[in-house]
Amino acid sequence: MPIWFPRGPNLGVRLQARHRVNGFVLPNVPPAGSDNDGPGRSGGSPTAVRPMSALPATGTPIGTGSPVATPPLPRDGQLRAGQGDKPGLAPVRPPTARAAVDPAPRTVRVGVVGVGYWGVKHVRALEKVEGVSAVVAIDERLADEPDGSLAAMGVDQYGDLACALPSVDALIIATPPSTHYGVGLQAIAAGKHVLIEKPLATNAGEARALIAAARAADVVLMSGHTFEHNAAVHKLRELIRERDLGQLYYLDCARLNLGLYRNDVGVIADLAPHDISIANYVLGSRPTTVTAWGSRFVGVDHEDVAFLRLDYADVGVRASIQVSWLSPVKVRRVTAVGSRRMAVYDDTAEDERIRIYDKSAIPPEKGSGNRQGMTYHQGDTVLPHVDFAEPLAVQDEEFVSCIRTGRQPAADGMSGLSVVQVLDAAQISLREQRPVSIAEISSMSAPAAAQYGGLTQRRD
Ligand SMILES: NC(=O)c1ccc[n+]([C@@H]2O[C@H](COP(=O)([O-])OP(=O)(O)OC[C@H]3O[C@@H](n4cnc5c(N)ncnc54)[C@H](O)[C@@H]3O)[C@@H](O)[C@H]2O)c1
Repeated sequence: MPIWFPRGPNLGVRLQARHRVNGFVLPNVPPAGSDNDGPGRSGGSPTAVRPMSALPATGTPIGTGSPVATPPLPRDGQLRAGQGDKPGLAPVRPPTARAAVDPAPRTVRVGVVGVGYWGVKHVRALEKVEGVSAVVAIDERLADEPDGSLAAMGVDQYGDLACALPSVDALIIATPPSTHYGVGLQAIAAGKHVLIEKPLATNAGEARALIAAARAADVVLMSGHTFEHNAAVHKLRELIRERDLGQLYYLDCARLNLGLYRNDVGVIADLAPHDISIANYVLGSRPTTVTAWGSRFVGVDHEDVAFLRLDYADVGVRASIQVSWLSPVKVRRVTAVGSRRMAVYDDTAEDERIRIYDKSAIPPEKGSGNRQGMTYHQGDTVLPHVDFAEPLAVQDEEFVSCIRTGRQPAADGMSGLSVVQVLDAAQISLREQRPVSIAEISSMSAPAAAQYGGLTQRRD
């Protein structure tokens, strides 16, 4: 029987009103009730939500069908002699200036803003990406002292983004989540293509403003959903899509470890974006309702242990997500349970990250009179070979390729917004102890959303 995937939520109204941000004219955020962004490079269209168009349009849902209804003045930031840029004189172009830029550049100069734990990995990955002519490191911490290992790699270093702008065509933003919005807007307003690490922003209003700004500037906006570039996740999606597991009952995700505690956001915004994007990707859908529980055992301002339940009403599947900074053993696991088989994706495994268990529970025949007669099928476990390429490198290749070809990334701004909406809904659910529908988040006005303060506000 063919499998049915929905075409995603209605995401299609064009932005019309304009407002002023940081001195630049930008389209307004969409009106209440519409997380819409019509066709365009950075926004996406309803059909561009997920690359599932190859799937049959009709058939049966994959799941059970029973979800619960529920610039400051630049400092002298250039530490390693660059190409004669004068700090403080970085030309910041208005959004319309992109028309004058080569629409399909042969090579791209990429800056990484924030070269901490994760940003350094981007720098290394970019060194090998075809079409990248220069890699530049930008980080506040470099204002005081250049980084020896970056210098050894021959990477130019800047302590201030404004100073680096003339030297780059595109930016990967790997600063703490609370800074994504401000740094992202600054980069987009200067006409730079941006890949923003997860989460795209700390609330849906900011995410929408980034999407609108990128569309107005006609630059690529990509969300750093690394796992969507992971071959093991692609395999999991294939197993679900091909119905190798039978009818999908549920997804269960666990992302646990001891630390690392972040200061600006809690464990939900830090770790759950990975699992939300994985679930959205493998199901080819978007959640409709979010329920969250959380605790602050050691964390003062934010939850350090949390549980999320995502209902995907369109496909009739429920995903549970457990995230923790307070657990003795590192766990990065996604379990998909179907009526015929079960699959486990373990990202901590050295090899064979996907295991398919030919196991199932078979209920007694209706009318057999044997109510207790559940039987269990125990077959072989299969470890499919997955050609593994470093997901971060694949993601960065995709970003550069999109810039060079004008193609829209699958993990676009709307994809990032979808994840941020779940984070917003989780915050309300935590506070009000109730299921929160994504429609509620979509229709929330900016002032109402601000009342919740996204993910960074300290709660009483
Ligand atoms: N995709 C993934 O798998 C993955 C994994 C880890 C982290 N991340 C994301 O990467 C980002 C960075 O995480 P991290 O663990 O590397 O953090 P980190 O604290 O190690 O590094 C952040 C760096 O940003 C710099 N910085 C802060 N504000 C800045 C600003 N305004 N301008 C320039 N530099 C600034 C800091 O000095 C620091 O060096 C986060 O958004 C995180 O969610 C993604």
